[in-house]
Amino acid sequence: MGETTFRFILFGWILIALVIFIILLFIAAPYGRHFKKNFGPSVNAKLGWILMESPAPLIFAIFFFSSIHSYTIIPVLFLIMWQIHYLDRAFIYPLTLRLSSKPLPIAVLVAGIIFNTLNAYLNSYYIANNISKYSVSWLFDIRFLFGIGLFIFGFIINRQSDYILYRIRLHTGQEYGIPENGLYRWISCPNYLGEIFIWLGWTVATWSPVAAAFSLWSIANLVPRARSHHRWYKETFQDYPVERRILLPWLW
Ligand SMILES: NC(=O)c1ccc[n+]([C@@H]2O[C@H](COP(=O)([O-])OP(=O)(O)OC[C@H]3O[C@@H](n4cnc5c(N)ncnc54)[C@H](OP(=O)(O)O)[C@@H]3O)[C@@H](O)[C@H]2O)c1
Repeated sequence: MGETTFRFILFGWILIALVIFIILLFIAAPYGRHFKKNFGPSVNAKLGWILMESPAPLIFAIFFFSSIHSYTIIPVLFLIMWQIHYLDRAFIYPLTLRLSSKPLPIAVLVAGIIFNTLNAYLNSYYIANNISKYSVSWLFDIRFLFGIGLFIFGFIINRQSDYILYRIRLHTGQEYGIPENGLYRWISCPNYLGEIFIWLGWTVATWSPVAAAFSLWSIANLVPRARSHHRWYKETFQDYPVERRILLPWLW
């Protein structure tokens, strides 16, 4: 891919994220608690999440191994970070979903597959084509160290928060409850805040415009969704804590 084509694709990719952000401010993505039958046919959520997320680890690995021929520590660390997140998201996380979970509309599934395929390709492409930037000295670069730290911090928050939600159903048998522990004490969607930190950390560690576009996509998806979840909690539970914010403790 030439430099001009790459810039053109990246620009389009960022533009689509902005359009999606605006749409999602008005229409909550119709899966999970916001599922609606009128969004067409759907599949079982477990199967849907596996199909939707598995292109991310597969495409990244295929492109990585087919285009990088001498392996140095930094690109391998990026590969490990990506795979730890996505193998878990694609193959472990769906196991925590109940068979009776709300189905995933095929429209959302297809959009997710297209997004994950292109996003994994672009992230892997950038690393493979900027291999000289990621020499051993990058290991001691403040951007790499801070980025890795933020990635790990976000990962812990995201997984801990998803686990708290998982335990609500496991222990109470209720479909939905008010989450009480961890960062839920302050905000309605700490799993989304953790996810945003993961990709901001990835962006800083790789110092890549493609990763920055991915962070933008995550914000475009998750900020409006956190807003919809927060509204839903307040409408559904009379005793929902009034001091709890949406995504940023004490602020919003
Ligand atoms: N990078 C990105 O752009 C992106 C986009 C989307 C998702 N994700 C990540 O994917 C993961 C799942 O996303 P999601 O949108 O499905 O998150 P979610 O709406 O918070 O739901 C997570 C899981 O917990 C269940 N759940 C949610 N609230 C609950 C409650 N109050 N009581 C009991 N169970 C509850 C959900 O069931 P139901 O599904 O039946 O509601 C679902 O199984 C998250 O970690 C998120 O960060 C990332």
